[in-house]
Amino acid sequence: MDKLVITGGIPLQGKVRISGAKNAALTAICASLMAEGEVVLDNVPRIADVEIMLRIINRLGVETCWEGPNTLVIKTPETISRKTIYKDVKMLRASNLLLGPLVARFKEAEISMPGGCNIGIRPMDLHLKGLALLGADISCEHGFIKAKADKLIGNKVYLDFPSVGATENIMMAAALAEGSTIIENVAKEPEIVDLANLLNTLGANVKGAGTDMIKIEGVPKLIGDRYAIIPDRIEAGTFLIAAAATRGNVTIENVIPTHLEPLMAKLREAGVTLLETDDTITVVTDKEIKPVDLKTLPYPGFPTDMQSQFMSFLSEVRGTSVVVENIFENRLQLAQELRRMGAKIKVEGRSAVVEGVPRLQGAQVKASDLRAGAALVIAGLMAEGNTEISNVKYIDRGYENLEGKLVSLGAKINRNFKPVMV
Ligand code: UD1
Repeated sequence: MDKLVITGGIPLQGKVRISGAKNAALTAICASLMAEGEVVLDNVPRIADVEIMLRIINRLGVETCWEGPNTLVIKTPETISRKTIYKDVKMLRASNLLLGPLVARFKEAEISMPGGCNIGIRPMDLHLKGLALLGADISCEHGFIKAKADKLIGNKVYLDFPSVGATENIMMAAALAEGSTIIENVAKEPEIVDLANLLNTLGANVKGAGTDMIKIEGVPKLIGDRYAIIPDRIEAGTFLIAAAATRGNVTIENVIPTHLEPLMAKLREAGVTLLETDDTITVVTDKEIKPVDLKTLPYPGFPTDMQSQFMSFLSEVRGTSVVVENIFENRLQLAQELRRMGAKIKVEGRSAVVEGVPRLQGAQVKASDLRAGAALVIAGLMAEGNTEISNVKYIDRGYENLEGKLVSLGAKINRNFKPVMV
């Protein structure tokens, strides 16, 4: 029921520290279930999606505790339940990443068909095809996906599409399979490399992450250890765009600039100056901003998770920009909310044509998913007057203290909590 009220028109100024990556952390939590002993994960963001994932694994019998603000300790007993509950799983698509780890270590998994953000049809055929090739017996009954295998055996898996989740699930399962697995046409996102590094820290033998082909030599067991999650490139990108969109001057700290190359290339093409060090990026908006076209693609293409925020930015850039969404068909829904703020955006199929207007106007709008929520925050920061964003729960799912961090950069944001009337 919370709402964010933003008073726009203030250029963001200052420094902000980027949190650990949501997507890498969620996968790392799932992978940790495969290890004997304690896994200690550092740099885990305190966001609702992480809390939901912990609730799901706690219900399976996995013990977790926070040791400091962003350090998570996970201890998985020898025997746990392998069945996730619909009530929890329907809230979090990433819970499908428990399938590989559970079947690999505990021989059996029963995952309620996952839910998550409303961004289109999100099938799991590639995950299931890969696990079946490793010898898992897969069935889908009464809204549950079941996977069983006395033992998994390495195999060659070719993915029709470089799905992030399918690559991760198959990689995790193969880490404890007998013999070698080769996965081709895999996702190359930094979160895949982070998962491989975590698995190798726990004793696995994974090579090639970050390229088109991953080779995994199965090991009999993984052993608990300590690992730090990479910084969140999507949170970082959200701040870069927010800074450019408000014509501000902001330094983001604790980032890996190479992970942001696809976004930085587009911002530079639009005329934004970006200065990099090993772990910071500074946005300077000292030139005229020009319209640009973009297409979302698997990494190292432009990330779908940054498309919405970039569309908000483009809506005040004079001229015509074309945005093509190739990964999740529903992600152009944002255009209709931005139109309520005065944006001129026409959507046809997977393309949006954005005609820049001189100034967005504050309005009441609603987040339809996590990244659309962040995009509306950016639009609110740009707009004249007040913007009231509802469905803030989506933003809280994936951003650690977004409004606090923006306020520290000079933004005017308030959270209105409206209790539900009974
Ligand atoms: C992950 C990210 C999400 C990001 C997305 C794409 C997590 C928790 N989430 O989601 O933030 O937007 O990558 O970068 O890491 N597909 C199939 N069959 C499958 C699996 C996927 O057809 O079995 C399709 C999907 O419908 C979609 C495309 O592949 O069109 C990409 O999906 P995928 O890369 O799997 O995304 P997720 O892992 O769900």
